[in-house]
Amino acid sequence: MNKYKVLLTHPLPADWLASVSGEVDWVVGPDNCMGISPEVKACLPEVDGILSFLCDRISGEHLATAGKLKVISNYAAGTDNIDLAACSRQGIAVGNTPGALTDATADLTLALMLTLLRQLPQAAEAARKGDWKMWYASRWLGEGLRGAKLGIVGMGKIGSEVARRASGFGMEIIYTGRNPKPEIESELSARYAKLQELLAVCDIVTLHAPLTQETHHLINETTLKLMKPNSILINTARGAEVETSALVRALKEGWIKAAGLDVTDPEPLPPDHPLYAFSNCLILPHIGSATISARRKMAEMACANLMAGLRGEALTHCANPEYKEQLK
Ligand code: DGY
Repeated sequence: MNKYKVLLTHPLPADWLASVSGEVDWVVGPDNCMGISPEVKACLPEVDGILSFLCDRISGEHLATAGKLKVISNYAAGTDNIDLAACSRQGIAVGNTPGALTDATADLTLALMLTLLRQLPQAAEAARKGDWKMWYASRWLGEGLRGAKLGIVGMGKIGSEVARRASGFGMEIIYTGRNPKPEIESELSARYAKLQELLAVCDIVTLHAPLTQETHHLINETTLKLMKPNSILINTARGAEVETSALVRALKEGWIKAAGLDVTDPEPLPPDHPLYAFSNCLILPHIGSATISARRKMAEMACANLMAGLRGEALTHCANPEYKEQLK
């Protein structure tokens, strides 16, 4: 049987791919390398499919050389790394993995809030350094979640799970997005507000919208200045939703109290970046979906999308359904 030739842009554990490996000849790109490497680029004309990572920017220029390509299966829920319009024009299906990482990312969002509010890194570092001589009544004092106002920007799958968790902690939920979500409001007594109002009243603001032209730099100098000086910004969505230079100024000049970032712009954030200088800015290397079960589920969904696209069948999760127009 002829196998499909598929580019896996970076390695994944073999057992996560085992269900399809009998039908696929993998061409595997390098580890520890951001984006499409020259070797990977060189094999684009030969491949029937691509299993890509969110750090691979796949542009119209790449697609122009990929004459046999039928499907790009992104190992992520977000597809902002792929030129979807160019894929549709070429009749290439793009798959993604929504839902697989919802719980993992919502959990991490709460972890960032608690870590910042309770100063966990500072307290742990003090203990490690031997700066723990007694039980202190007034050191490493933080704040609790009960009664705090949480502003959720984007009440989709992840935003809703954050809301459920936050509601369990006794937080007051205010949210914004394209449209109000009556079902969430009746389930959790959450309230819809315009972004400006949400920023002005919330103690913690957390981003869960996809990266689009509308959400690019949604958090900028103007919007950061609307936030309360004692408030915290959390971003587990996409780095470019926050204008990094404005955030640096916000932290330096005290427009907000702290930031917890699982995503940054650029990504990875270089080790000498000014954001690392702030002890009130917690930066993680994009680990929102990094639980074993989420990453396995993502692999399962990505493989299913890949095989459907290779066989010319409908993808279970397709980010550009209009690609079919080109195949008629
Ligand atoms: C995604 O899948 O879009 C996430 O950012 C991965 O962590």
